[in-house]
Amino acid sequence: MQLSNRVAFATGAGSGIGRAGALAMAAEGAFVVVSDLDGQAAQRVADEIAGAGGQATAMALDVTNDAALQAAIAATAAAHGRLDVLHSHAGIQIPGTLEQVSPAQMDASWALNVRSHFVAAQAAMAVMRPQGSGSIILTASNSGVQYDREMIAYCTTKHAVIAMAKQIAVDYARFGVRCNALCPGFVDTPFNLGFETQMAGRAGLEAYIATSIPMKRFGTPAEIAQSIVYLASDQSSFMTGHALVVDGAESL
Ligand code: NAI
Repeated sequence: MQLSNRVAFATGAGSGIGRAGALAMAAEGAFVVVSDLDGQAAQRVADEIAGAGGQATAMALDVTNDAALQAAIAATAAAHGRLDVLHSHAGIQIPGTLEQVSPAQMDASWALNVRSHFVAAQAAMAVMRPQGSGSIILTASNSGVQYDREMIAYCTTKHAVIAMAKQIAVDYARFGVRCNALCPGFVDTPFNLGFETQMAGRAGLEAYIATSIPMKRFGTPAEIAQSIVYLASDQSSFMTGHALVVDGAESL
């Protein structure tokens, strides 16, 4: 197993891609701390992991609460004596153009899509740098390598996440800590409500998928989970500062 004896901390892991990543890391032998704003959802994922013979704990965690996020990561490292993987995943999608998105909505996007990754990575680095190893995975999006239509808050923040991952990568490579950005394309989870609304409902979203994605389909959470395991494990040991785009070629 690729993640035996490794400890992973995941945010926004009660649903969708984060959940799939937590399940996949646990299936590869990691002890996974499953955190989510929705503590019950996190607990269901931890129970699922335990049911499959894996190891996990769950916690309710709002990643926009700096002190709670820092304490959760520090407590994980203290309990296990190490922290090998941070998958900082929670994000928000607020649709709209420059004239439609309010400054408060831009602040909310920044707080969750950028600032929370910064706080989480900083807390993880406090453990990983002295440890001399670690893999930090920041969820961005293929919206960080392309420009969507009428998505200024989402696109701006997702581009910023990739910049942050690259900057962390160059600064901490010499300490043995890697940092990469995960850039999924359309994956069929509750997350795409913003795009769905913008495209006048589910039929509009499906028509977009069929015509704009060369592979003509959504990705599955399980497909993205394989990339999470790859970035978390030694399979990607020479990869840092990379934006791993998994999007059926939508961004090309
Ligand atoms: P999802 O909607 O299935 O799950 C998101 C989870 O995040 C939920 O369980 C929710 O409770 C949790 N969450 C929301 N706010 C939180 C907060 N403040 N603190 C902690 N947890 C919080 O979504 P999914 O598909 O897993 O996507 C989430 C992330 O993946 C976002 O960063 C998003 O930008 C990124 N992404 C998703 C894509 C997709 O098509 N689903 C494509 C590209 C990127």
